[in-house]
Amino acid sequence: MRVFRAGAIAALAVSQTVAEILYAGVNSAGGEFAQQNLPGAFGVDYQFINETAIDFFLNGGMNTVRLPFLLERICPLETGLGSTLNETYFTELATAVNYITSKGGYVILDSHNYMRYNDPSMQPFSGSVIGNSSDPKAATTEDLAAFWAELSRRFIVNTNVIFGIMNEPHDMPTALVLQNDQAMINAIRAAGAQQLILVPGNGFTGGHRWLENTCQDESLECLPNSEVLSAITDPLDNFAFDMHLYFDNDTSGTHEECTTKAPSNLFPVTTWLQENNYTAILSEFGAGANPTCFESVNDTITHLEESGVFIGWTYWSAGPLWGDYFLSIEPDEGPQANSTWPEVLEPHVKRYQPMMKCGLSTNGKGGVDLDRKGLEGCLGAKLP
Ligand SMILES: *[C@@H]1O[C@H](CO)[C@@H](O)[C@H](O)[C@H]1NC(C)=O
Ligand SMILES: *[C@@H]1O[C@H](CO)[C@@H](O)[C@H](O)[C@H]1NC(C)=O
Ligand SMILES: *[C@@H]1O[C@H](CO)[C@@H](O)[C@H](O)[C@H]1NC(C)=O
Ligand SMILES: *[C@@H]1O[C@H](CO)[C@@H](O)[C@H](O)[C@H]1NC(C)=O
Ligand SMILES: *[C@@H]1O[C@H](CO)[C@@H](O)[C@H](O)[C@H]1NC(C)=O
Ligand SMILES: *[C@@H]1O[C@H](CO)[C@@H](O)[C@H](O)[C@H]1NC(C)=O
Ligand SMILES: *[C@@H]1O[C@H](CO)[C@@H](O)[C@H](O)[C@H]1NC(C)=O
Repeated sequence: MRVFRAGAIAALAVSQTVAEILYAGVNSAGGEFAQQNLPGAFGVDYQFINETAIDFFLNGGMNTVRLPFLLERICPLETGLGSTLNETYFTELATAVNYITSKGGYVILDSHNYMRYNDPSMQPFSGSVIGNSSDPKAATTEDLAAFWAELSRRFIVNTNVIFGIMNEPHDMPTALVLQNDQAMINAIRAAGAQQLILVPGNGFTGGHRWLENTCQDESLECLPNSEVLSAITDPLDNFAFDMHLYFDNDTSGTHEECTTKAPSNLFPVTTWLQENNYTAILSEFGAGANPTCFESVNDTITHLEESGVFIGWTYWSAGPLWGDYFLSIEPDEGPQANSTWPEVLEPHVKRYQPMMKCGLSTNGKGGVDLDRKGLEGCLGAKLP
């Protein structure tokens, strides 16, 4: 028993055998914006959520929001990556997190840093690769672990939080991705946090190339995630792989036309997940607002639902500062607010109801029980 559905205490006795879509929602990007401008001004350069938009999505049946934040803002360069946080930025982030989780939503804390730290100005390519021992300016694996120990400790009692430990590592040895991922997992568990951890891979964590080498530069040893990340261990077995997918000609999500063969490009990774008893979340996917793209996105979500191994998805993207960005589904103002949401995403979400709104975030297969006290706290009510 790992999953509790609001209003159905009887469901406490029901255990899950097959993965289902436990988490569905959107990214609310913005906390990482204007990354060339540090620290930047809240509400101008960066902002996490518009509360009205969050209400819209949660009232519409979604239950998950992925919240990007910038490491160089939460750990300023003056003090470096580690356990010393900028309390102002942390409070801005925590205010958004608490708003969403107090309404029963799940929040994926997304460290939006491409496994790099110290110069986000030209993301995704600038900055030292974390743990690169031949770069004297690079933050270490231990620094990264110390950061996650501190952040997870601060959310230890918020069962609706999910740890998205790193956005889109790329162009680095896959062995170093493994080393950093494992150190973050160990640090979070050592801190006592039990929530779901999302584990990224190399190659911008692309689901479509999970079984392939991912670097142009072969000397970097970008071995397939499928070969290297099978070494990941979690003492609580409460992790899922974190994957992204875009549908344009270079899978970058920067073109309106959908020309890749989705979801068939996910079939290899789906089989790998099934054969190895893993679960995964598609935490970024987005496509233009046209019939070909709608079909690709719709068929991809159907594939996730039928796979038995994908436990969630969050669309890219909502967010308060996007303006007329072509992928924005921010209510009222986003170009896709009146198309992708009602025509493609909402029909799927309607079929998931009621979605889990309370209970420890879980991979749907691992063995984490929320203790009685934790569950009662989360419900705000005494169990019979
Ligand atoms: C939030 O969204 C509402 C509704 O779309 C809009 O009226 C309001 O201006 C937005 N607030 C901020 C701070 O962006
Ligand atoms: C901490 O963050 C706040 C809000 O962004 C900013 O005003 C302040 O300058 C930051 N402090 C440091 C040391 O970066
Ligand atoms: C690690 O640092 C060295 C020295 O700065 C650099 O040549 C190398 O490209 C870096 N490795 C990666 C993966 O960035
Ligand atoms: C992708 O499509 C765009 C047009 O939308 C084109 O300009 C670009 O050259 C194409 N890139 C590749 C890698 O085919
Ligand atoms: C996956 O789980 C099934 C059923 O519990 C088990 O029979 C199988 O050996 C597992 N496979 C792997 C690779 O762990
Ligand atoms: C979407 O529809 C709403 C309600 O009809 C409207 O207020 C809003 O301007 C529309 N948004 C766009 C981007 O067309
Ligand atoms: C999505 O796919 C389902 C089943 O494959 C189909 O019934 C539905 O009409 C599709 N929706 C759109 C918007 O194409």
